[in-house]
Amino acid sequence: MTPAYQLQCIDCHAEYDPAEIIYTCPSCGGLLEVVYDLPAIEVDFHTSGECRSVWKYRSLLPVDIEPVTIGEGGTPLYRLGRLTLNIDANASASEIFVKHEGLNPTGSFKDRGMTVGVSKAIELGMKTVACASTGNTSASLATYAARAGIPAVVFLPGGQVALGKVAQALIHGAKVLNIRGNFDEALRLMRQVCDEYGFYLLNSINPFRLEGQKTIAFEIADELGWEVPDRLILPVGNAGNISAIYKGFKELKMCGITDSIPKMTGIQAEGSRPVVDAIERELEAIEPEQNPETIATAIRIGDPVNAAKALRAIRESGGLAISVTDEEIVEAQRNLASLEGIGVEPASATSIAGMRKLLADGLIDADERIVCVTTGHILKDPTEVVDVCTKPTWVDADIDAVRRAVFG
Ligand code: F0G
Repeated sequence: MTPAYQLQCIDCHAEYDPAEIIYTCPSCGGLLEVVYDLPAIEVDFHTSGECRSVWKYRSLLPVDIEPVTIGEGGTPLYRLGRLTLNIDANASASEIFVKHEGLNPTGSFKDRGMTVGVSKAIELGMKTVACASTGNTSASLATYAARAGIPAVVFLPGGQVALGKVAQALIHGAKVLNIRGNFDEALRLMRQVCDEYGFYLLNSINPFRLEGQKTIAFEIADELGWEVPDRLILPVGNAGNISAIYKGFKELKMCGITDSIPKMTGIQAEGSRPVVDAIERELEAIEPEQNPETIATAIRIGDPVNAAKALRAIRESGGLAISVTDEEIVEAQRNLASLEGIGVEPASATSIAGMRKLLADGLIDADERIVCVTTGHILKDPTEVVDVCTKPTWVDADIDAVRRAVFG
């Protein structure tokens, strides 16, 4: 059964009919979130049997129709072994997990948001869905729009999106524009276009999309026997996911299913760290970074739209925010791949790089139970992978040459 819900402004708390097509508060401009009358809801997380998926948690999701789905969620939670030994002797005693969201159908966590967001678009009778994207959102949106049979329009920061993601948006039939500008500019333009043409905006400013992403929290707690980790570490770009996961953990606690909330710990790249700056300098709001730069193109974002929600998530949960360098990102990506068999794109490796740095600097305890979220699959960005790895050795098709090369 679908729960009763409203849209509510996180700043002035004004409430709105969820059928209104609004992305920010018409009264004060604040961000919106979906609120439920939680005590009135009979939370039933067992309707779809043992199989974990986004829709297992339907009793806390705001969709009233048969959802547009391709089997999202149900991603593995791996306990790390060799990598923790490599990090720090003390950490080997701790429990460090990786929730590998790269194993969603299109290779990123965005699918959790899109199954809910595109379903909502259909429910609301919207004719076209749209987003600006550093790549993964557009890949996911194009896929779910194809599944739903409606057109998708996406704006990309031209020349700054990883190859695999562009390929996905194209093959699934989206109209793809390469904007001569960065992601923040692309999103500003897309918001204007959505207002003018009535396209349904499915960036993470859309509060329904974030409802799908909060199921990452539900799944982690579910997999840990309805226990909550001490800390969650994840990359921060447009700052939607950290806000969504925090909301998920809060709702579990408010429903009496769990009894604590993890310390939400956001990691940004050194050249693109407005949220980290705001936390370090105790600012009320972020100061946008005009020229964000990092190898982790997915999170090359200077003006995250969900910053207000993310700052609250980090502060209220007693969490942290730090940045890591591109070198640390690449090293973490390589270690995760070669020591654990987990292949992730650079943005995702920021979780691992951040965890390593926090442990090394003594900012977190080695006995904490930590979950790092890896947000996207390694195949998303094949160009970067080939660039940072040793090239294959060319060898003649001759057994002696091959022997020499194998043992050389
Ligand atoms: N990791 C990956 C792989 C991403 O693609 C993104 C965001 C993030 C982390 C950050 O998540 O924005 O919720 O803080 N990608 C967006 C996109 C911006 O357009 O694909 P966030």
